[in-house]
Amino acid sequence: MTETARNIEAIAARVKQASHVMVMTGSGISAESGIPTFREAQTGLWEKFRPEDLATPEAFERDPETVWKWYEWRRDLVGKAAPNPGHGALVTLAERVPLFSLITQNVDGLHQRAGSTGVVELHGSIIRTICSSTRRVIDRDWLDANPGSPPRSPYDPHGLARPGVVWFGEPLPADAIDAAALAVATCDLFFSIGTSGLVEPAASFGHAAADRGAHVVEINPAPTPLSPRATWLLREPAGDALPRIVEALDALG
Ligand code: OAD
Repeated sequence: MTETARNIEAIAARVKQASHVMVMTGSGISAESGIPTFREAQTGLWEKFRPEDLATPEAFERDPETVWKWYEWRRDLVGKAAPNPGHGALVTLAERVPLFSLITQNVDGLHQRAGSTGVVELHGSIIRTICSSTRRVIDRDWLDANPGSPPRSPYDPHGLARPGVVWFGEPLPADAIDAAALAVATCDLFFSIGTSGLVEPAASFGHAAADRGAHVVEINPAPTPLSPRATWLLREPAGDALPRIVEALDALG
């Protein structure tokens, strides 16, 4: 038996005993859906831009059109993508444990499209558009009828339509932070999947759970700052590793 196969069996056995599983995902879980990870090179038209320079309130203030168009391009990419077997396996995993918390840094909505419920979106959603001034969600039908790059907000003459995501330097939604903090404080098994663990506060969740004695599983082809804390490391794509964990769980009956 390979080391990976042994680890997968051990993880499945731990899942079976778990009372509360917390899963933290990053853009790596959507890589197999064809969505480039956050820090991967931009392609085509967007090659010369760094995401860190576009995903800020300052960038939007300076050049709302470029930022809007970048998000339109990404929303289009996400719309054409489909959830992959990694997203699907998390739906099944949630059904097999008493309590399951899925916290994501992703803005692509693929967990929900796969069928996950109660997903906590730390960084908002690219699918929602909000008013830059009031933060109210703007209806998609209204946007379709009022094109612009970006259009003025229907709620405030000084506001613009903007993506419903959290930008660098902006506070995270308080309800998402509270839900994540509660899960960190009560989980006994923590999965870190497809995240480089470089952006706070999400980067600290695995460390805090490990400090409390929770077992940590990391699924990522590359090492991260959390790797030394992991009880089990799977250096595999999430779309391979997660369905194998579900299979191993099924085999345990
Ligand atoms: P990153 O792009 O920083 O990291 C993606 C991680 O996924 C890397 O560690 C890859 O090794 C891993 N990876 C790639 N393919 C994978 C696969 N098939 N299966 C599993 N893992 C894979 O993305 P995030 O960690 O999500 O925030 O970035 C976190 C946040 O940084 C983003 O939400 C964004 C950015 O700041 C905001 O925009 C506020």
